[in-house]
Amino acid sequence: MKVSAKAHPNIALIKYWGKRSIPLNLPAVGSLSITLGTLETTTTIEPATGEEAYYLGGERVCGQEEKRLRAFVDMLRIQGANKAPLLIKSHNSFPTAAGLASSASGFAALTMALYRYLDLPLTIQGLSEAARQGSGSACRSIHGGFVEWRRGEDDDGSDSIAVPLAHAGWWDLKVLVCVLARGKKAVGSREGMALTAKTSPMFQGYVDGQEADLDTARQALLHRDFDALAKVSEASCLKMVSTWLTTYPPLFYWRPETYAVILKVQKLRQAGYPVFFTTDAGPHVKVICEGSVAEEVEARLKAWPEVLEVLNCPVGGPATVETLP
Ligand code: DP6
Repeated sequence: MKVSAKAHPNIALIKYWGKRSIPLNLPAVGSLSITLGTLETTTTIEPATGEEAYYLGGERVCGQEEKRLRAFVDMLRIQGANKAPLLIKSHNSFPTAAGLASSASGFAALTMALYRYLDLPLTIQGLSEAARQGSGSACRSIHGGFVEWRRGEDDDGSDSIAVPLAHAGWWDLKVLVCVLARGKKAVGSREGMALTAKTSPMFQGYVDGQEADLDTARQALLHRDFDALAKVSEASCLKMVSTWLTTYPPLFYWRPETYAVILKVQKLRQAGYPVFFTTDAGPHVKVICEGSVAEEVEARLKAWPEVLEVLNCPVGGPATVETLP
């Protein structure tokens, strides 16, 4: 038997940064995201002829990354009847580990593929819980469209699940991912969050304001109020950045090019274009705009010297899985 799963990355508009439980990977705050269509991770699982092995983009995964994957696979394998070694191959249609949320689509696709391969019951609750333990943002990539990952209150994390707020067709927004640098980031999100929660004096302020920001974003989404969504999303991103800068040692995920592009995006908005920015833990800027102006905005972004490449993403659908002959 061979299975193949696909999942899209997502970009948070209301950001997740920090955990209330490290062992269960439970977030300190809820978050809200848009699924990025076009970009995707494809993961296949088949029986291994020798020892278990994982591949990403054709290269064998080793060291700490392999350990993390094996722990995840074992967590699900223990629930199924099939304990035989697996050959797992993943491929991203976009640059890996550069702030483009590859761990979100990666663990969402892996979760879907493992659930099918191990014949586990495909419930939203189960998928969310499993994907979350691989990487928090991955639970949002199980669904398509606009998604909220609830913080939850329970100690065992059973109420910290991702729920769809609106399907992909609800609002014709485009995410224009501006790639500003090549290569991997120096400090991973997981390590960065732990440092922030420990050392940043701004962290509590960000946590305290999150419920209000989520509420504003949900309302903006419900009413398709672009200006309200722009305002609260940029504020959420900047609050997260303020916690990075006040972490010790400081987390400089942004580069001078990031600031330059953000200032230009703000000028575009002042000139009347429905656009706003957000970033994840990396240098790239994601520009969100109304679909009606996407082509024009994309042409402008491509002309900026800081921008190496623009990936134009519609709002994407949910993760999928199929059994191959
Ligand atoms: C900045 O989901 O990669 O993209 O749960 O530790 O695996 P872990 O972290 P991860 O963090 C994503 C952080 C972010 C913001 C967000 O996606 O909400």
